[in-house]
Amino acid sequence: MNQYKAAIVGYGNMGRWHRLNISEKTRILVTGAYDIEPQRMEKAREDGLKTYPSYEALLADDEIDIVVVATPNNFHLPQACQAMEAGKFVVCEKPVTMSSAELQEMMDCSKRTGVGFTIHQNRRADADYLAMRDAVDKGLLGSVFQIESRVTGSRGIPEGWRQYAVAGGGMMLDWGVHLIDQIVMMMSPAKVTDIYCELYHVNYKECDDGFKLMMYFETGPSVMIEVGTSHFISAPRWYVCGDLGALVIPNWDCNGKVIRAANHEVRWEEEIIYTKAGPTKTMAPRAKNTIEEIAIDGNQWHPDYGGFFRNLADHLDGNAELLVKPEEAMRVMRVMEAAFESHRTRSVVKCSI
Ligand SMILES: NC(=O)c1ccc[n+]([C@@H]2O[C@H](COP(=O)([O-])OP(=O)(O)OC[C@H]3O[C@@H](n4cnc5c(N)ncnc54)[C@H](O)[C@@H]3O)[C@@H](O)[C@H]2O)c1
Repeated sequence: MNQYKAAIVGYGNMGRWHRLNISEKTRILVTGAYDIEPQRMEKAREDGLKTYPSYEALLADDEIDIVVVATPNNFHLPQACQAMEAGKFVVCEKPVTMSSAELQEMMDCSKRTGVGFTIHQNRRADADYLAMRDAVDKGLLGSVFQIESRVTGSRGIPEGWRQYAVAGGGMMLDWGVHLIDQIVMMMSPAKVTDIYCELYHVNYKECDDGFKLMMYFETGPSVMIEVGTSHFISAPRWYVCGDLGALVIPNWDCNGKVIRAANHEVRWEEEIIYTKAGPTKTMAPRAKNTIEEIAIDGNQWHPDYGGFFRNLADHLDGNAELLVKPEEAMRVMRVMEAAFESHRTRSVVKCSI
């Protein structure tokens, strides 16, 4: 089996994460890095990497097979294209580009040069996502009619480039790209037909600091995705409802539960419950003997982030299709663009994505 060598452009938080994850878990060795900040280059050298005086010098190194682009979003297109022109396979951080037109340019460059690229959509391997899909795939909830996917916090947008539109800032491009990708992959090949979105600007004018997005597919459940940075209390990471049961996974610890009708029994109990808000039959809690609870044990679910790079090595050997294909990223990009349009026009955007 071949060994491959990679270099990272942009040795910030994600660049450093890549050095550990790629080299330790795959047969791709990260050997070099380039960053415009001298301190980051110093850090790369401390981490045992070769540094280069310029990006062009990195690309001229014949030892390097793969370039990992981990710079702010506005540099992805030019740096990925430069790398492909130099014959280096590209792993581009998400969001792959800032628009579908830019992504088309990147795809055209790949076709022209005959050099491939993939996108680091690592959250397809997140434990909470896999646990949720497992319960749905096993039919524990019956026919799913509603999915809610959320990540919320209260710390605002991180300092730096994420606060500026010119750099591709904002939470739609930062987090939306992951959560939309998860849902599009789960529902595939069903197409998205309707999108409604409200962007939040709670503390930031220039870039969205969160959003609430409704997505409808030609088949299947309605999906609500929410990202928030001004939410002092978080709603569950996943809340999924089917005709036979519901699932909740509160957070990334991934300890959750499924509550489902025992023996597929979804019948009424002719009982009125008297609550502080008056009597109700409809909203009364169910009797224990009519439901079963299945625990989702976080200890059983572990993300395998190395899988993305093992697949890449297999792909470069000629033995595997890419796990993350540019066409898939294009669907996500188009959903995000439709979401921006929906917010701008305060209307539902009809589409076929
Ligand atoms: N997949 C994920 O889960 C995930 C998580 C975090 C960030 N990201 C992505 O990774 C990328 C970087 O994010 P980050 O959080 O590491 O940001 P960061 O600010 O920590 O790091 C970016 C680095 O790029 C350097 N840089 C800026 N312009 C450059 C240029 N023209 N050439 C070379 N270096 C340059 C900066 O000096 C900095 O060191 C973004 O695209 C982001 O969306 C992905």
